[in-house]
Amino acid sequence: MITVTVCVGSSCHIKGARDLIKALNELLTEYRLGDRVELKGSFCMERCGTGVNWQIDETVYSSSTVCEAVDIFKEKVIGVNG
Ligand code: FES
Repeated sequence: MITVTVCVGSSCHIKGARDLIKALNELLTEYRLGDRVELKGSFCMERCGTGVNWQIDETVYSSSTVCEAVDIFKEKVIGVNG
């Protein structure tokens, strides 16, 4: 099981955390990953100001846009590009 955690603290919320969660949820459905990937929210990861902060397991990403985060998710979790 892969755990994907999105920070839902106020700074990341302003930078699009909610849209990221929505986009990731859609991908989980589209690629039928519900039994392989757990999507969670997190309180502030104490990295505010560097973009939307989120993790794939223990690896932290600070993505300046939702698109950038989605691309990383596709590459690392789904294994497809674009
Ligand atoms: S609100 Fe996300 S790291 Fe602080």
